[in-house]
Amino acid sequence: MAMENYRHFLFFLITSILIGFLSILFVLIWVFQWREGLAWDGGLAEFNWHPVLTVTGFIFIQGIAIVVYRLPWTWKCSKLMMKFIHAGLHTVAFVLAVISLVAVFDFHNYKSIPNMYSLHSWIGLMGVVFYTLQLVLGLCIFLFPMTPAFIRAAFMPIHVYSGLLIFGTVIATALMGITEKLFFALKNPAYKDSPPEAVFINTLGLLIVVFGGTVLWMVTRPSWKRPGEEASTFKQDGKVSSVTENELNLNSFDKATMESSSEAWKRNLKLEETGLRSTM
Ligand code: HEM
Ligand code: HEM
Repeated sequence: MAMENYRHFLFFLITSILIGFLSILFVLIWVFQWREGLAWDGGLAEFNWHPVLTVTGFIFIQGIAIVVYRLPWTWKCSKLMMKFIHAGLHTVAFVLAVISLVAVFDFHNYKSIPNMYSLHSWIGLMGVVFYTLQLVLGLCIFLFPMTPAFIRAAFMPIHVYSGLLIFGTVIATALMGITEKLFFALKNPAYKDSPPEAVFINTLGLLIVVFGGTVLWMVTRPSWKRPGEEASTFKQDGKVSSVTENELNLNSFDKATMESSSEAWKRNLKLEETGLRSTM
C-alpha cells in the first residue's frame, strides 16, 4: 500500500526517533554528570528515576505508541496485531510512569517534603490518572471482542482527542518539572547565571517539544492514516464482497442489537482478520 508523501513521513519519523533518543541520552547525562546518579535509597539519586523514567516512558514510548498505526510497512499486518503493539507500548509507558511517581513520592516522604503542592504535581498526577482511564477504556472498547462495532466507532474520535490531549499535557508537565528542578538545584551559580547544566537541560526541554511536535504532525495528517475507510473488498464465508466501512458500521449496528453476543463476538473476530475495522 503506497503512502502519499512517503519521504516527508520518513523525514518526520526519523527526526522524531533521533530526537527522542537524544532526549533520553540528555536526561541520563544530566543525572550522571551533574546530579547524584541513580539509586533507590530515599535520596536525590532516587528522585532522579523520576525524570529518567518520565522522559523515557511517558514521553518517548508514549509518542512511539501513538504513531505505530501510521507506519506504512505495518499496513499489511492485521489490525489486531497493531492494536496489541499500540496497547502494549502504552502499557509499558504506564508502568514506567507509575514507577517514576513512586520514586518521587518516596523521596519526598523520606525527606519529609510535602506532597502535591505544585502545579507540576497537580497536572502530572491528573495526566497519569487520565492515562490510566484511557488505557482501561481503550482495552475494554477496542480489544474486548464482544464490544459492539457501533460503540467502537462512536468512541474513536474521543479516544484520539483525549490521547493527544494527554500526550500534550505530559510534555507541558515535563517542562514545568525541568524548570522547577533547575530552580531548586542550582544555587551557586544560580539558574539566572546560565551555568552549563542549565543550558544543557533547557536544551532537553527544547528537544522534548520538538519530539512532541513531530509526533503530533505525523498523527494529524489525514493522508498518513492507516487505510481502510474507503470501499474495501473482503472475504466472508468464502464469498468476496465489496462494502464501504460506513455500510459496515450501519449493518453492524443493526445486527449487534439483534444478534446474540457470541455471534457478535465471531463477527468481530472475522472483521479483525480481514483488517477491515480500521477506525475501530
Ligand atoms: C514532583 C509528575 C516529569 C521534576 C512530581 C509529582 C508528580 C509529578 C505527581 C508530585 C510528587 C509529590 O508530591 O510527592 C510528573 C509527570 C511527569 C513529570 C506526570 C511527566 C512528564 C518531570 C520531569 C522533571 C520533574 C521531566 C524534571 C526534573 C519534578 C520535581 C518534583 C516533581 C522537581 C518535586 C517538586 C514538586 O512536587 O513539584 N512530578 N513529573 N518531573 N517532579 Fe515531576
Ligand atoms: C488510535 C492514543 C490506548 C486502540 C489512537 C490515537 C491516539 C491514541 C492518539 C490516534 C492514532 C492515529 O490517528 O494514527 C492512545 C493512548 C492510549 C491508548 C494515549 C493509552 C493511554 C489504546 C488501547 C487500545 C487502543 C489500550 C486497544 C486496542 C486504538 C485504535 C486506534 C487508536 C484501534 C485507531 C487506529 C487507526 O486509526 O487505525 N490511540 N491509545 N488505544 N487506538 Fe489508542
